[in-house]
Amino acid sequence: MSSATTEPGTAVPAVYPPGAEFAAAANGGAALYDRAAEDRDAFWAEQAERLHWHRKWDRVLDWSDAPVAKWFVGGELNVAYNCVDRHVLDGHGDQVAIHWEGEPGDSRDITYRQLLDEVSQAANYLTELGLEAGDRVAIYMPMVPEAIVSMLACARLGLTHSVVFAGFSPTALRQRVDDARARLVITTDGQWRRGKSAPLKEAVDEALYAHGDVPHSVEHVLVVRRTNVEVPWTEGRDLWWHETVAQASTEHEAQPFDAEHPLFILYTSGTTGKPKGILHTSGGYLTQTSYTHHYVFDHKPGQDVYWCTADIGWVTGHSYIVYGPLSNRATQVVYEGTPNSPTEHRHFETIEKYGVTIYYTAPTLVRTFMKWGREIPDAHDLSALRLLGSVGEPINPEAWRWYREVIGGNRTPIVDTWWQTETGAIMISPLPGVTAAKPGAAMTPLPGISAQVVDDDGSGLERGRSGLLVLDQPWPSMLRGIWGDMDRFRETYWARFASEGWYFAGDGAKVDEDGALWVLGRVDDVMNVSGHRISTAEVESALVGHSGVAEAAVVGASDATTGQGIVAFVILTAEAKDTGEALIGELKAEVAREISPIAKPREIHVVPELPKTRSGKIMRRLLRDVAEGRELGDTSTLVDPKVFEAIARG
Ligand code: WT7
Repeated sequence: MSSATTEPGTAVPAVYPPGAEFAAAANGGAALYDRAAEDRDAFWAEQAERLHWHRKWDRVLDWSDAPVAKWFVGGELNVAYNCVDRHVLDGHGDQVAIHWEGEPGDSRDITYRQLLDEVSQAANYLTELGLEAGDRVAIYMPMVPEAIVSMLACARLGLTHSVVFAGFSPTALRQRVDDARARLVITTDGQWRRGKSAPLKEAVDEALYAHGDVPHSVEHVLVVRRTNVEVPWTEGRDLWWHETVAQASTEHEAQPFDAEHPLFILYTSGTTGKPKGILHTSGGYLTQTSYTHHYVFDHKPGQDVYWCTADIGWVTGHSYIVYGPLSNRATQVVYEGTPNSPTEHRHFETIEKYGVTIYYTAPTLVRTFMKWGREIPDAHDLSALRLLGSVGEPINPEAWRWYREVIGGNRTPIVDTWWQTETGAIMISPLPGVTAAKPGAAMTPLPGISAQVVDDDGSGLERGRSGLLVLDQPWPSMLRGIWGDMDRFRETYWARFASEGWYFAGDGAKVDEDGALWVLGRVDDVMNVSGHRISTAEVESALVGHSGVAEAAVVGASDATTGQGIVAFVILTAEAKDTGEALIGELKAEVAREISPIAKPREIHVVPELPKTRSGKIMRRLLRDVAEGRELGDTSTLVDPKVFEAIARG
């Protein structure tokens, strides 16, 4: 790789080597890779030293019960203490932790001292409610400061939080509350959505009552006032935050917990209709989120203004809004709303207003910015930006270059970070100031991380050939299981390469001639829409829940903006009265209601039949060909190859 290389037939660089100035001041260096290669356990122990431990660990890694790892065995810490108290005690209480920007234009600056007060109040009140370490708490909230305070209060008390994205339906919330048997739900009255208040407390009530007499585990619903809408109220069960938490004492002493104490459950879509509760624990998780946030974003506490545009409902919000940045004493922007509220200038105004230096977002938003046109970012002073990040799906080289040139003023490094809900923290990414990055490639596993691209049998591949991405060594922030279903945990991630003992990520990848790793996307029945993971089975089950649908097959078809778009093929029942546009609209609404608006199909085709193999499996590969308008692939294994003529007519 050399800086002079350009893409064949063009003048654009194929590789972007680090700038000398950036490299000279970078947190990371090539030595990190050497150190990790020399002694992985010692390397991770050094990273764990970033944190405050009430009790030091006896052993770095215990892998004897694989695939369930124990990291920092015997160590004790308090995650919230590490994210808040420690910085106040170190004399940084007046530093802003959160520049909170509300969608309607209100804003709040919260210092580390104020954050400590609020987290302490919440911890005191949750204790008063009788919650004890190990209990589960569901958090169903928009991007308001109290959401972060709630997560940290749980962490402080050893309560396991389960954040449910506030865009999810009452049904989805109920499913998650039941699975984790949550004792408390924390929510808001409503949430701002493009200038309108969408009810949220009402959705909680719907979740808890909709199932008639089926008993649930929820004892209390704690409600933050945000949009001032009227809410249904159950006396004795429902509690206002401002009448309870906000009145509690600000004195609270954090107790240490075992390094393997459960920190959170986060539900993510798998290949079946039932979401998986991914379980993360404390010491290893915080070590790796802290380590990666420091090196991958080159974060300098007290100097940088960091902004991750994710929602706390996703793992990116957990690891790179809450735990990583706060453990590193970041000053960060937290924004409540959508990027075009009230206008498409919102993100750029915000970058300008706070002097954001590090900006971390998803390729789908970069492509949306491209669509809106460069005159929008060009109207703002974005010169404080010094590093850009990307996450959620592969970033196409064109979007990468536009991001760097238009948003990054042709000077900022871009870190394309590959990871998953299950990995807990970034795994594969360039190191800024060190790696010469190629647009579209996640480049190389971080120091301390080991990955391979292999064929179906687990054999290594020649460079340039694509195969399956596996992680062949345990890592500190790895999932410790699927809540309540350890068999599924072993089956989903560890069965594919059981004899090798590798974790199979579900992604295809290739390593190119220069050793750069390119993630190519999911190889299973999981779709990626705007960086959100949605299973085909979940959408299918929502569709067949409608009385008019007998059978449904769903595929992800490539989409210029969202990465993938959801395309559904349905066979109607005799009960379906209408077969036209009205029904299609109704079905789309049904999916949005059952799962979330993000799962709403882009297209629904009514067909007389679905292509199936002799064993009855729907051939999604062929449906994808249809959805993307391609020549059909091999149809020889179909029971009835003629179905496609019917589908084409349908
Ligand atoms: C899946 C994980 C990681 C937080 C957001 C999504 C895809 C994620 C990249 C990237 C190519 C990526 C993968 C992965 N993915 N980042 N930089 N390049 N693909 O978390 O919902 O658990 O989804 O997102 O397919 O398996 P998630």
